Amino acid sequence: MFMQVENVYKSYNKEGGFFYSGKLDVLKGIDFSIKEGECVGLIGESGSGKSTLSRVILGLEKPKQGSVIIEGISASKWMKENRGGMSVVFQDYTSSVNPFFTIKNIIAEPMIMAGDKKNLHEKICALLEKVGLPSTMINKYPHELSGGQLQRVCIARAISTHPKFVVLDEAISSLDVSVQSQILELLHKLKHEMNMTYLFVAHDLQAVANLCDRILFLHKGKIVEDLASDELALATNDYAQRLLNSVMPLCIGKNKCNLNKNLPPLQVV
Ligand SMILES: Nc1ncnc2c1ncn2[C@@H]1O[C@H](COP(=O)(O)OP(=O)(O)OP(=O)(O)O)[C@@H](O)[C@H]1O
Ligand SMILES: [Mg+2]
Repeated sequence: MFMQVENVYKSYNKEGGFFYSGKLDVLKGIDFSIKEGECVGLIGESGSGKSTLSRVILGLEKPKQGSVIIEGISASKWMKENRGGMSVVFQDYTSSVNPFFTIKNIIAEPMIMAGDKKNLHEKICALLEKVGLPSTMINKYPHELSGGQLQRVCIARAISTHPKFVVLDEAISSLDVSVQSQILELLHKLKHEMNMTYLFVAHDLQAVANLCDRILFLHKGKIVEDLASDELALATNDYAQRLLNSVMPLCIGKNKCNLNKNLPPLQVV
C-alpha cells in the first residue's frame, strides 16, 4: 500500500464576526488507501472538503484527529526522507506562479529545493517538451502564456522533482474543454511514463472517470462510495447515484446500469 488516510477529522472556526460562533466540521472520519501507481479520483460538490483533504494529505494543514501514512511511515517523516517526492498542481495556475519569474525559474525552484542543481537548463528544456511546450518558452514570463500553456508549466514544475505522488486539485477546471482533454491526455501519458500515483480532485465526474482507476465520492465529510471507474454503475449510495445520474452518458454500454432513475440528478457545478 502506498498511502493510507486513517480516520481524518478536520474542523475550522466558523466566521462569527466579533463573536465566536462554533466550528465547521469539514472532514468527519475519512478512511481510504491508495496503491502504488494508482490514479484515484476524489469527487464531491463545492465546499465538501476536497481541497481541505488534499491540504491535509500534502501536510499543509494538520488534521484535528487521524493520520496520513505513506509507505508505512507518517506523511511528514516521508516528506523529509523523500524531498520532492510529493507535489501538487492547483486550479489557479495564475496565482500559483510568481509573475516576476521566468518559466525557467518557476520550474527550477522545486528542483533546487530538492537538491537538483546540475544541468538545470537542459533538464527544464526536456521537461517543457515532455509537457508539450517548445523549449524556446524557457525565458518567457507567465503573462506571455495562455492558460493552457501556463497549466502545462505548472505540471512540468510538479513533475520536475520526479515525485512518486502528485495531487491535482481541480487542475483542469479553469481550462476550456478542448484544452482540458489535451491536459487529461498529458496526465495520462505522464502517469504511465513516470509511474506516478495520482490523487485527482475534480467536479467533473466524466474527466475523473476517464483518467482514474478508482473514484472516491466525498459527501458530508465522509467517503460515501469508493468504486473502480469501470464499476460506477454498482454505486449504492444515494449521493453517488444522483451524481452519476447527472452524467448518464457514462453508463452507455454498461450491461448492468442499476442506477436509481427516481432520484433527482445533482447539479454539477
Ligand atoms: N482556511 C479555512 N478557514 C475556514 N474555513 C475554511 C477554510 N478552508 C476551507 N474552509 C471551509 O471548509 C469547507 C470545505 O472547503 P474546501 O475548499 O475544502 O471545499 P472543496 O470541496 O474543495 O470546494 P470546491 O469544489 O469549491 O473547491 C468550506 O465550507 C470552506 O468554506
Ligand atoms: Mg477545492
